[in-house]
Amino acid sequence: MRAGGSNPVREAARILTARGNVVVLTGAGISVESGIPSFRGSQGMWEKYDPMEYATLHAFMKSPQKVWEMLSEMVSVCGGAMPNAAHRGLAALEEMGVVRAVITQNVDGLHQAAGSRRVIEYHGNLDELICVYCWKRYPTRDRWTPGSVPLCDCGEILKPNVVLFGEPIPWLAQEEAEEEARTCGVLVVIGTSAQVSPACDIPRIAKESGAAVVEINPEETSLSGNVTDIHLRGSASELLRRIQVTLSTDDESTSTSPPGIK
Ligand code: OAD
Repeated sequence: MRAGGSNPVREAARILTARGNVVVLTGAGISVESGIPSFRGSQGMWEKYDPMEYATLHAFMKSPQKVWEMLSEMVSVCGGAMPNAAHRGLAALEEMGVVRAVITQNVDGLHQAAGSRRVIEYHGNLDELICVYCWKRYPTRDRWTPGSVPLCDCGEILKPNVVLFGEPIPWLAQEEAEEEARTCGVLVVIGTSAQVSPACDIPRIAKESGAAVVEINPEETSLSGNVTDIHLRGSASELLRRIQVTLSTDDESTSTSPPGIK
C-alpha cells in the first residue's frame, strides 16, 4: 500500500467519494466465490488445460471438438453460478451513484445478473455462440446441451462468442473501456492478475490520465506498488462490504484526498 493511513479501507472510501467517477475493472478473482475457478494459480483452469492447446483461436480451428472439452466445462460451471456478495456490492455501489461503469474480463455474465447496468464485456460472454465461417450467432441455450458440440445451420462447429488468445478484443468494448479509463477519477481493479494484454493496459491508461488506482486482491500483482495507489489485500466480497459500510456511515469519507493521492 503506498497511500498513507492506518485504515486503508477508509482511505479507499475517502478517495472514491472525493474523486468520484469511479470505474471498476474485474477479473476471474471476483467470481471465485461464486464457484468459478480462476485461470492462474494452483486451482486455476490453466493447471488442468494448457491454454496453448485449449484457449487459442488456432487450437479451436484445428480441433474444435477438443477445445469444446474445456468450453463445455466453462459453460456448465458459469451457467450454474450465481452472483456473490462482491458482484452485488458493485451493483449496489452503482445504485448509490458511486460506481459509473464496470469493465470485466469475465465471460460469466454475473455482474449483469447482480444488477450492474453499465458493464463492458472485454472478452465477450459465454451466453452467445458464433459461427467462425458464416458469422451467424445463437443464444448458447438454444444450441448447446451438456456434452454436446454445438453446430451452426451451415454445419460448422460453433464457438462461444468469447475472446480466445489470438483474437482481437471486440472493437466497441475496447473503445469504451479505454474511454472509461481515460476519463475516470478512480479505477478500482478487482481480482485480476493483470497478466493478459491488452486488458492489463487499462490500469496504466487510467493512471497516466490522472486517476487513482485502488486494487482489491489477496495477492501481489504486477500492478501492486507500481500502478496501484492503495492495495486492499483480501477477498473482493469482504472488502467491498467494508467499503460500502464505510461509505454509508463515515461522513469523513466526503472530505479531501489523503496524502499521496493527487
Ligand atoms: P487470473 O486467474 O489470472 O487472476 C485471478 C486473480 O484473482 C489473482 O490475482 C488472484 O489473486 C485473485 N483472486 C483470487 N480470489 C480472489 C477473491 N476472492 N477476491 C479478489 N481477488 C481474488 O484471472 P484474470 O486476471 O481475470 O482471458 O485472467 C485474465 C484473462 O486470462 C482471462 O480473462 C482469460 C485468461 O486467459 C482469455 O481467455 C482471453
